[in-house]
Amino acid sequence: MTDTIKLLKAHRSIRRYTDRPVDPELFNELLRAGQSAATSSFIQATTVIRVSDADIREQFVELSGSQKYIAQAAEFLVFCADLKRNQVRSGQAEEDFSWAEQLITATVDVALFAQNMVVAAESAGLGICYIGGIRNNPDRVSELLSLPKLVYPVFGLCLGYPDQNPGKKPRLPLEPICHQDKYAKTEQFAGEIDQYDEFVRDYYVARSNGKLEFTWSEQMKKQAATQSRPFMLDFLNKKGFINK
Ligand SMILES: Cc1cc2nc3c(=O)[nH]c(=O)nc-3n(C[C@H](O)[C@H](O)[C@H](O)COP(=O)(O)O)c2cc1C
Repeated sequence: MTDTIKLLKAHRSIRRYTDRPVDPELFNELLRAGQSAATSSFIQATTVIRVSDADIREQFVELSGSQKYIAQAAEFLVFCADLKRNQVRSGQAEEDFSWAEQLITATVDVALFAQNMVVAAESAGLGICYIGGIRNNPDRVSELLSLPKLVYPVFGLCLGYPDQNPGKKPRLPLEPICHQDKYAKTEQFAGEIDQYDEFVRDYYVARSNGKLEFTWSEQMKKQAATQSRPFMLDFLNKKGFINK
């Protein structure tokens, strides 16, 4: 196993940080590592907004559902899918960037950039936590950060030195994840997923001193029963995305 594989497999989200700041040169190196990710057709559709202002951080805590580590982390970044830069530089109309395919490519670009940055950060001893909670209120995020049309906030990212050492969250076994030559039905992996459910239950019991006790399948059932951010399509349309 390589050191990089060991590092990737040791990932855990960190939700408590020390006061230690991130050295500015290291921070720039992390951004450069992020930028080095592959990018669909060279579109480079990621914009990172570094939020340092304490008042704006507090507003992000609140609009993300009281996630206090947003204020506590040394750095808080908002990753935006950005087709505005390309629209301006290409001289094309905003409407020319409204295809569903462009939403996909821009969003994939952002995820690859961010994950490269995350791996670089973890290799330097930093901890991270993605914050999808910022999409609870995308209009307010847009307003707070002055995001124009063709720019939408995909997720936030807390970055800082860890002040906790949580256990590693178990992932699904490989059988249902990697199929051979054609798609295999989920029912085929009932045994493996049942067993995994028990691992997840044990993980939560251990992590919460017995207060939480649920399986992965139970979690997915609960998630599927509630409509998640039903305003998102309207928001994206308003921002000039996915109109065709
Ligand atoms: C796009 C994305 C958004 C996420 N949003 C949040 C969030 O708002 N708050 C949070 O505490 N964790 C968030 N997470 C972290 C996940 O809950 C976490 O990665 C998952 O439970 C697996 O745990 P692990 O990262 O410790 O392995 C997010 C992760 C991703 C990839």
